[in-house]
Amino acid sequence: MKFFLDTASLEEIAAATSWGALAGVTTNPSLYARVGGRLQDFHEHIQRICALVPGPVSAEVTAEDTDTMVVQGRELAALASNVVVKVPLTAAGLAATRALTNEGIAINMTLCFSVPQALLAARAGARYVSPFVGRFDDISEDGLEQLANIVNAISNFDFSDCGPNGQSVEVIAASIRNPNHVTQAALIGADIATVPFDVLKKCVEHPLTTKGLRAFEKDWEKVKQA
Ligand code: E4P
Repeated sequence: MKFFLDTASLEEIAAATSWGALAGVTTNPSLYARVGGRLQDFHEHIQRICALVPGPVSAEVTAEDTDTMVVQGRELAALASNVVVKVPLTAAGLAATRALTNEGIAINMTLCFSVPQALLAARAGARYVSPFVGRFDDISEDGLEQLANIVNAISNFDFSDCGPNGQSVEVIAASIRNPNHVTQAALIGADIATVPFDVLKKCVEHPLTTKGLRAFEKDWEKVKQA
């Protein structure tokens, strides 16, 4: 499973990139608002992210009609070669995904909450589909069970004739809230988990790693004084 960072923060992206294990970034309008983003700076901000990340960067359209989504998608795709256009999983979004995919633009279909939605996204040519785990949990449903259903359903079929260059769809486990979501997404077989920076930090840390290091440090002091 690959790790994407779910953020619009340049500082978080720079830090996570320096760890050497980051494969991409996902953003959305809420994440951009969270870093104090302004409309007039949006495209430049996406370009800055793209320059920092050695992999795909999802940038989301904000329109809800197909024609405007296609216009916005083309503009976003023109910003950098690693932009992936993020499109909501609606009927209008499916149509925009097909249109943009036919132009060779990679699409991440977002706000996916069901197997039929995921299958339709794959058929429309999406390069990625993003089932949301945490938001299902928020409404007392089992987000991981839904993710497992979607991963299983997608793996039952060949979608290589749906997108450009025979590339098949990849499932991004999104709306990840804790390291257990990451563990379970990997065991379920999600291709990618997109993880907020605070959760990624928790994934690196373990109390026994810290305890072990302190013990080595203490014993090394004895070695130095022997
Ligand atoms: C996915 O790409 C979304 O940006 C994200 O994972 C949503 O997560 P949230 O439910 O924590 O907002």
